[in-house]
Amino acid sequence: MNVLEALEARRSIRVYKPTPVAPEVIKSIIEAANRTPSWANTQPWEVYVVSGTPLENLRKRYLESFRKGIEPNFDIPAPKSWPAAHDERINQLGAGRFATLGIERDDKEARRKVTEMNFNFFGAPHVIFLCMDRDLSHWSLFDLGSFSMSLMLAAQHHGLSTIPAVMLVAYPDIIREEIDIPQNLSIVFGLALGYGDLDSIHNQYRTPRRNVDEFLKMVGM
Ligand SMILES: Cc1cc2nc3c(=O)[nH]c(=O)nc-3n(C[C@H](O)[C@H](O)[C@H](O)COP(=O)(O)O)c2cc1C
Repeated sequence: MNVLEALEARRSIRVYKPTPVAPEVIKSIIEAANRTPSWANTQPWEVYVVSGTPLENLRKRYLESFRKGIEPNFDIPAPKSWPAAHDERINQLGAGRFATLGIERDDKEARRKVTEMNFNFFGAPHVIFLCMDRDLSHWSLFDLGSFSMSLMLAAQHHGLSTIPAVMLVAYPDIIREEIDIPQNLSIVFGLALGYGDLDSIHNQYRTPRRNVDEFLKMVGM
């Protein structure tokens, strides 16, 4: 699979088969992502791939917390609001996904169940936590974002699915209790990894994109 094919094929997968991925395949994906460029080659990424019993313990506690209504407490605060154009795209995503699932706008219980899938880590057998030193600037978040895209494309190459999901880091205190992540690291972001259940209804919606002409200015040619 070449890079363009991987870019085209990648999409967020929200239901996984339980089959674990071979450790050497996961390692090779991380090795590929390790070629990601970063500010002055600072390579800020600290990567935790969590599987097996530690992941099941996390999953159980995440689900309990979500069901108790405990609010997410991200290390990197979530935006409180969005500019109108971006807010509209968020609404478009929700509407598109729920329409595919046949869920009505006011069916709160069905929507809650869909949200709950985040806290079940979408049933994935592996969750990757991307962390970085707390003293790093916002610029290093750019590097972590680049790293996660490299990782997702490398996973695609191996026939694997991913989803980048902020909800996977909703409860960093629980992660720190279950996994030995040093206090000097921010737990920035999470990705689920595994073999996607591509036939699941939850994996049928294909997100749209803006027409390139809406945002592209080619200057000088
Ligand atoms: C920073 C970031 C955070 C995201 N958080 C979540 C999340 O918590 N839950 C979720 O279901 N999807 C999450 N997503 C997935 C996006 O909804 C998805 O990437 C977007 O709708 C485009 O769809 P695609 O990935 O299928 O192309 C996140 C994606 C990014 C890049």
